[in-house]
Amino acid sequence: LNNGLARTPPMGWLSWQRFRCNTDCKEDPYNCISEDLYRQMADHLVNDGYAKLGYKYVNIDDCWMSMERGPDGRLQADPDRFPHGIKYLADYMHSKGLKLGIYEDFGTKTCGGYPGSKFYLELDAETFADWGVDMLKLDGCYTDTDDMAYGYPAMGFFLNKTGRPILYSCSWPAYIFDSTPGPDYQEIANFCNIWRNYDDIDDSWDSVKNIIEFYANDKGNFTEVAGPGNFNDPDMIIVGNYGLSYDQEKVQMALWAIMAAPLFMSNDLRNIRPESMDLLQNPRIIMINQDYLGIQGRRILKMGNIEIWTKPMVPEGKSKAYAVLNLSSGGGPTKIDLPFETLGLTEKEGYNVTEVFSGKYLGVFSANSVQTIWVNPSGVYLGFASFDP
Ligand code: DGJ
Repeated sequence: LNNGLARTPPMGWLSWQRFRCNTDCKEDPYNCISEDLYRQMADHLVNDGYAKLGYKYVNIDDCWMSMERGPDGRLQADPDRFPHGIKYLADYMHSKGLKLGIYEDFGTKTCGGYPGSKFYLELDAETFADWGVDMLKLDGCYTDTDDMAYGYPAMGFFLNKTGRPILYSCSWPAYIFDSTPGPDYQEIANFCNIWRNYDDIDDSWDSVKNIIEFYANDKGNFTEVAGPGNFNDPDMIIVGNYGLSYDQEKVQMALWAIMAAPLFMSNDLRNIRPESMDLLQNPRIIMINQDYLGIQGRRILKMGNIEIWTKPMVPEGKSKAYAVLNLSSGGGPTKIDLPFETLGLTEKEGYNVTEVFSGKYLGVFSANSVQTIWVNPSGVYLGFASFDP
């Protein structure tokens, strides 16, 4: 969507995976969906150094609303959990240099059973703009998927009509990826800034692997439509939660960077392991993700449990990030001899190569070089080959 937003993949924090639809502020005040939760995450984004690296959006997900619309038909936040309302939260974010994202659903109800936008698209777009919201994730529960092809563009039209820049995240393809003929990604890219292609992420390695495989297969050729203003969204970053080992956390960061994926963390920033925090804040990983060409990387090779992924980067696609993924689930590190020409790196002068996680500079490699690397089981090697003439 060419609205000036999401020129590089958006970054921030989103409540869903970690905090779900926890509305029990009596028994679990610390973790329930409430204005306190979003304020606290905002404070951590700023005070712990995430925001200055680009993590700017604080996004509300499902279960923020009252079960009923107000007498004027407008959506309203749950008065007990959001006593100051959404505009107050938006002001709070803006005062800290952050942005506020919100969640709605194109159908009659949200997936959690709260009021949906069907029949209220224009009023809801106006309400969000009046509140000062900066991003909308529009989900797709409780509707006929046939209605999406006009419904998602219609909401985009009404958002645009408000005059407020609102980054538009569509769940549209995630509800039809299994259907025939499947999503029309060119069309979706015309109307949405980012879009969920596939199933929800869970806090598990299986879930991360499934998502990576889905993106590798690229059914419907969605990889080619990624670029400034348009990004495929493989779902939230779960680094810092319960389900992944440290190596598996590195896999998620490396692959999401290579895929030019939106980076919305869904974790508890109030309580996070230092090594997870360092991964989330690794400036070289973020640089790969945020490369301004916005090209989504691809899997270029699969040999058994080993996969190679590359992402062309500036200048004009002559530099590349590359990931060597080891999906085996046993044993020790695997040795790989990686001929540089396999990566499509053909400049004769050679490339400056850096190991991305550590930032260690490895010297100059050229097309006929072979790099020997060791990759842990359910782990990844991430390299950056930079062509600086
Ligand atoms: C389905 C979406 O894909 C999730 O990310 C989350 O927003 C839930 N719905 C909320 O109900």
